[in-house]
Amino acid sequence: MRVLHVSSEVAPFSKTGGLGDVVAALPQALSALGVEACVATPRYQHVDVSGFIEQPPLEVELGFATEVVRIFETIQSAVRIFFVDHPPSFARSGLYGEHGGDYPDNARRFALFGAAASKLGALVLRPDVLHAHDWQAAPALIYNYARRDEPDFPSTVFTIHNLAFQGRFPGATMDELGFTPELFDPRALEYYGDVNFLKGAVLLADRVTTVSPRYASEIQTSEFGVGLDGVLRQRRQDLVGILNGIDDQVWDPARDVYLPAHFDAANLEGKEECKRALQREFGLPEVSVPLSAAISRLSYQKGFDLITQALPDLLTSNMQFVVLGSGDRSLEEALTELSKRTPEKMAVRIAYDDRLAHLIEAGADLLVVPSRYEPCGLTQLYALRYGTIPIVRATGGLDDSIIDIGESTAGTGFKFSDYSKSALTEACQRAFACYASAGWKPLVERAMAQDFSWRRSARDYLDLYSALFHS
Ligand code: ADP
Ligand code: GLC
Repeated sequence: MRVLHVSSEVAPFSKTGGLGDVVAALPQALSALGVEACVATPRYQHVDVSGFIEQPPLEVELGFATEVVRIFETIQSAVRIFFVDHPPSFARSGLYGEHGGDYPDNARRFALFGAAASKLGALVLRPDVLHAHDWQAAPALIYNYARRDEPDFPSTVFTIHNLAFQGRFPGATMDELGFTPELFDPRALEYYGDVNFLKGAVLLADRVTTVSPRYASEIQTSEFGVGLDGVLRQRRQDLVGILNGIDDQVWDPARDVYLPAHFDAANLEGKEECKRALQREFGLPEVSVPLSAAISRLSYQKGFDLITQALPDLLTSNMQFVVLGSGDRSLEEALTELSKRTPEKMAVRIAYDDRLAHLIEAGADLLVVPSRYEPCGLTQLYALRYGTIPIVRATGGLDDSIIDIGESTAGTGFKFSDYSKSALTEACQRAFACYASAGWKPLVERAMAQDFSWRRSARDYLDLYSALFHS
């Protein structure tokens, strides 16, 4: 079986968040199960294609224009990755925008990418399944749909990684992009007079998945449905939540290339060394207090307003707190301001820094993820593997992946439900108390024994493909 994944991010070539990690690791895990998985993705400016194989170029029709795209191929861990190269669209410093704003031509950029990916499938790769991720890849399914009467038409899967981003553009975009006019219909792409890429993909795909079971049910409610809960309820028979896995080669404390020392559950000395390195890196005293951390995009989704509210109280405890993040300017400033008030306990790095993300996962004792909503969340899964205990809000994939130690002897972290400063504070205080108790070491061992590798979830995707393939 051949599956073509279409995604605007694939780590390590491009990544702004978890999507890049997932589309790098899932195809590899599928390959290990005997699926021939390949990936189509844009070639952004910083992707160096020297040494890649150049495939014949493709002509892509977009409305009344025809664009020529070049295709470069490389192989990463047995997965063929195809880069769609169109410098006017993708040779820019950002993936989706710059200085906090989206590029004004994003509809056209990702329509071109989707059209090219769909054509690569039709003419060259002939996949059995076309699997598109998030709104940026939705056009691949929309263009592909025009071929539905052809005999080798692939089955289609669409995965929602974040329902908040839908790719909504003015109605006139339909003609400009050459989408089939009949699809400008409430039963397809039309949404209150606009074009909604994600809605179109949800309605046109054979199956829709999202990245945790709990988020799959949440998005069918008006609270989490971002205006598409009705559409998702309509597709509930074909909608499934499959929890993301992690790449346990890239995220492995026993051989992580970014760490100053290595460790595993049987020998945690290396973790102590990583903690000291982390404290030095952030200019904090090298003392044995619970070191809490957060690594995140700083956006409305991630709940950092709760952190800024709770920190003044929490910082009166014997603890340290480090943050690595970037995004919303006012959150960046609020966090920086707090760290200036208590520099011996709190430090902030406003940046996007892979090495530091790995060092924090390894060196911290606790990782705080207070999200308003969280389709899956990967940082808490990395944390478990590095013996760093998650404190999470019970929503989406955070709720599915972490068991509160108060709920079960198999507990792996601390959960709170209310989106409130007091609920977060209470969970942190429970964690600090546990850190000082005999229960801490067994908790770390339990966390590290969890298996959130892709092996399990890749099989669920394989079952989904197989059911389509044979139907
Ligand atoms: P989301 O995709 O919503 O941002 P996830 O938890 O699924 O959330 O994935 C976030 C990914 O991005 C993780 O790999 C995390 O380590 C990484 N990340 C987030 N913020 C930063 C940052 N400031 N620097 C480096 N990596 C980051
Ligand atoms: C999105 C979600 C995150 C998820 C990631 C990968 O960015 O916000 O929760 O882990 O996609 O699926």
